[in-house]
Amino acid sequence: MNFKITSVRIIDCGPFEDTFIDFLDSNGEPLNGCLISGPNGCGKTTVLVVITELISLLTKCPNHQPGIKKEIGYAQLNMFINNQPFTIYYGAKPKDVTITTNEYLGYEKRDRSDRYKRKTGGKLVSLLHALTHTEEGNEIICPDLDDVKIDGKHLPTVLFFPHNREIETLKGRTQIFKEETHFSLVHRYNNIRQFEGSFESYLIWLDYSDPKTFNKIIKFLNEIDMDGKTFHIDRKNLQVNVRTTNGSTHPLNELSSGEQNLLIILTELRRRLDRSGIVLIDELENSLHPEYQYKLLERLKVFEHKMDVQFIMTSHSLEVFEHLPTNAVRLLNPLLAV
Ligand SMILES: Nc1ncnc2c1ncn2[C@@H]1O[C@H](COP(=O)(O)OP(=O)(O)O)[C@@H](O)[C@H]1O
Ligand SMILES: [Mg+2]
Repeated sequence: MNFKITSVRIIDCGPFEDTFIDFLDSNGEPLNGCLISGPNGCGKTTVLVVITELISLLTKCPNHQPGIKKEIGYAQLNMFINNQPFTIYYGAKPKDVTITTNEYLGYEKRDRSDRYKRKTGGKLVSLLHALTHTEEGNEIICPDLDDVKIDGKHLPTVLFFPHNREIETLKGRTQIFKEETHFSLVHRYNNIRQFEGSFESYLIWLDYSDPKTFNKIIKFLNEIDMDGKTFHIDRKNLQVNVRTTNGSTHPLNELSSGEQNLLIILTELRRRLDRSGIVLIDELENSLHPEYQYKLLERLKVFEHKMDVQFIMTSHSLEVFEHLPTNAVRLLNPLLAV
């Protein structure tokens, strides 16, 4: 299965009164990579959060309230699911809106009530509900990028990277934990402070239980070429070590914040993407030197091609702009438009 976002409309949410953003190229096809830019406070993060929240509505049971924490007057996400137009909407639907797609999921807010009325059209909503409720427990097998087969039956993954991404100093390194990666339709990256459930614990578990996948991931990490640094497991101390070219070693959380950003994004993509998906990255360039921004963008292109992924990213960086075609950049503050 395949998801592509085509546009979003956001009303009365964060800094937005009523804003429409499309994610289409000049031929009207969904972009595989789109960059949202603009000054601080213009709503870049809000766009990514709204998209994530709306897609997560697809996994709600029909008799449950939507449970979205963000204050949203009205938001509408237009997308393609398996090339069929699909709409997700939420909130107080303005009078000028009519849902024109046959396939849709809506949570409509009624006047002066805190409750939302769920409305659906077509067959996709119940199919997606059934699939997400059987697949949530399935484990994602780290894909072999050289041999990814896009399978129409697999659900896409929606991965959201909030701007604060770092490898924490971990507590509780006492034993190896079983770190499986279960499928979930929407996954938000979290910084974890406990050893259990952490990125480091995952690598140590793989080294212990699944050497084939471990070798794939370590090979991939070593190929990122962060100034020749390599990654090694210290089983005795339950620690992932970084070895620098001069032979000294240090723990993972002593990498620079830019290196951590690179490592987190690329490893999480490898771990959580299951053949196709939508990846939302807030502040892509977080502490990244231009050379590393370039490396990251080049690696994202590999995922985009091999795994059928749509990237929607935010950034202030000129280097990031220069690597994307101008029709793939959306400036949220009209004063900045050229
Ligand atoms: N209810 C609101 N009305 C108007 N502005 C708001 C409201 N809630 C948040 N904001 C503004 O939204 C901005 C934050 O939006 P955000 O999406 O995080 O911006 P960005 O990521 O582009 O820096 C802040 O400047 C904040 O003042
Ligand atoms: Mg932001």
